[in-house]
Amino acid sequence: MKARRLTPELLDELPPDDPAARHSRRDLFALNAIMGHRRAWCSWLRNEFGGQQPRILAELGAGDGAATAEMLLAAFPNANGARLILVDRQPCVAATTIRALERGGWEVCVEAADVFEWLEGSCQADTICANLFLHHFEDAMLARLFALASRAATRFAAMEPRRSFAGLLGVAALPLMDANPVTRHDARVSVEAGFRDRELSALWPRDGWRCEERRAFPFSHWFCARRE
Ligand SMILES: C[S@@+](CC[C@H](N)C(=O)[O-])C[C@H]1O[C@@H](n2cnc3c(N)ncnc32)[C@H](O)[C@@H]1O
Repeated sequence: MKARRLTPELLDELPPDDPAARHSRRDLFALNAIMGHRRAWCSWLRNEFGGQQPRILAELGAGDGAATAEMLLAAFPNANGARLILVDRQPCVAATTIRALERGGWEVCVEAADVFEWLEGSCQADTICANLFLHHFEDAMLARLFALASRAATRFAAMEPRRSFAGLLGVAALPLMDANPVTRHDARVSVEAGFRDRELSALWPRDGWRCEERRAFPFSHWFCARRE
């Protein structure tokens, strides 16, 4: 697959309580497990923070926060009052998800905002993460997002679709899990808008940062930048 191709995703346009949007978010929750994202995030968080939790963790494009809650609660049995900021233009975080996080010691803040506006404000976080989100943006917008994020945090990590034939094969298998038409459409265009090689590293500000970027088996693409 050659250059990235961006097509608007249906889930971004649907009201959060539309039945098709709800179905698609349930699909996303299942897909995050099937694609190994929850396991990969969990092991990264444990290794990166050596068993401690980040002080302030922000997720961009957090959606319903359900997969994030599950992996944070698995990675850090007691968050000791750490702050979790879930940023989304259309957040739909269930009260049960917030309560589960609070029981696990997280102070949860849901920000209904465009990520660019939020990053341009007075945001501070030790770590910013994104899951299935960066591929929504053209390279020039990503370079802007990265410039803003690099001012706010000391660590940035993302798990994204990989632009690969394996990804397209995965999309072709979606009917087997009864994924709805919104999910099937969005999964295909997400692979086409996904990343490969060192495309994200090339957009991250160079000075004072170390970037890691690689394939995440089977369908995904991992990126992490740490301030040196
Ligand atoms: C594919 S969903 C991923 C949700 C979640 N990270 C997950 O893995 O289940 C992408 C999310 O990005 C949000 N989004 C898209 N563009 C945005 C923007 N400019 N600012 C904030 N949120 C945005 C959408 O509302 C949607 O919830």
